[in-house]
Amino acid sequence: MEKIPVAVLGATGTVGQKFVLLLENHPYFEIQEVVASPKSAGKRYDEPCRWKQNRAIPAAVGSLTVKSTDQDLSSPLLFSGLDSSVAGALEERYARRGHFVISNSANHRMDPDVPLIIPEINHDHLEIIQTQPYEGAIVTNSNCSTMFMAMALAPLDREFGVEAVQVTTMQAITGAGYPGVPSMDILNNVVPYIGGEEEKMEIETQKILGKFSSDRIIPADINISAQCNRVPVFDGHLETLSIRLRNKAPLEDVVRILRDFRGLPQEIGLPSAPASPLVVFEDQTRPQPARDVWLNRGMSTLIGRVRECSIFDIKMVVMGHNTIRGAAGAAVLNAETVLKKGYLCDTSGILSRWEEQLISR
Ligand SMILES: NC(=O)c1ccc[n+]([C@@H]2O[C@H](COP(=O)([O-])OP(=O)(O)OC[C@H]3O[C@@H](n4cnc5c(N)ncnc54)[C@H](OP(=O)(O)O)[C@@H]3O)[C@@H](O)[C@H]2O)c1
Repeated sequence: MEKIPVAVLGATGTVGQKFVLLLENHPYFEIQEVVASPKSAGKRYDEPCRWKQNRAIPAAVGSLTVKSTDQDLSSPLLFSGLDSSVAGALEERYARRGHFVISNSANHRMDPDVPLIIPEINHDHLEIIQTQPYEGAIVTNSNCSTMFMAMALAPLDREFGVEAVQVTTMQAITGAGYPGVPSMDILNNVVPYIGGEEEKMEIETQKILGKFSSDRIIPADINISAQCNRVPVFDGHLETLSIRLRNKAPLEDVVRILRDFRGLPQEIGLPSAPASPLVVFEDQTRPQPARDVWLNRGMSTLIGRVRECSIFDIKMVVMGHNTIRGAAGAAVLNAETVLKKGYLCDTSGILSRWEEQLISR
């Protein structure tokens, strides 16, 4: 069956490389174009790319010539792992030209007409793209730390209401891109500051857990205080959460609600959906980045140590793969959701041929 040709923007970067891996043999999408900075453009992908993955570069991508952002793209669907210094203007330009942009970058996440999607939680927010002034569209996924906190909070907010959250993160170095934090700053150390991260966790979560109402997203009324730290871990952001509920609940009910949580990707069996979006550990010493980060292909949010809190109501540890579910994997799942819900055709019109085939699958 014919697949949708896609481009990866920022394909040589940390997130871009994960796109290249996740899209290899994808049932709906096939990488046709790769785009990076002027220093990489014009070269074969495998020359400028400082490949840091455990598998070899897929041959079909390794031999592609990297395009510059000045060149026109023929792929209707673009996955963006562009550096945030350039992502804002470039993604908007591509959307104006009719491309459907699925972005990892922070630049457009809080735009009122751009949905910030975690499909298990708020796929209904996709409707807001009808109000975008583009021929194409922009859909974003959250900051990597926001992802795991929002996933843990969503079922609790639905069932009991969440009033306030205090969160402290221990974030992996791959979250800073490549080359990221200098080794002399991070080895044997913890850096207690990640610029902009605390604000992102606070406001993005409110948008994601907010309600879509006719033509706008009303943020959730949850008071969130975040403290973010960089730690010498390669992959896997770990976070400790203390949560105040609006309606008090026994601990066993909290655990059951977390374990039972499922969303649209599980219901309709999207290819990248983990069978269990949340995995709750019994073992008090888990989850751990080094042991658990690849559980369920890095697509689940891992929860441990759910217990009562003497200041708030409950506390827990959450963890996830920052460049998979926190970045490229989230974007691929968003693209699968967008496709299955029929939005690609609605906005650009140029995808109808592929959409008809794929929606009917
Ligand atoms: N790492 C994570 O865990 C994570 C999680 C969620 C979201 N994000 C977001 O995802 C985006 C990418 O992050 P990353 O960690 O992959 O960063 P990265 O490793 O630094 O990669 C950045 C990419 O952007 C390209 N680029 C830089 N300047 C450019 C320009 N002027 N024109 C075109 N392309 C340009 C780079 O190409 P060259 O190789 O040619 O320089 C590279 O492909 C960022 O916006 C980041 O905030 C990252």
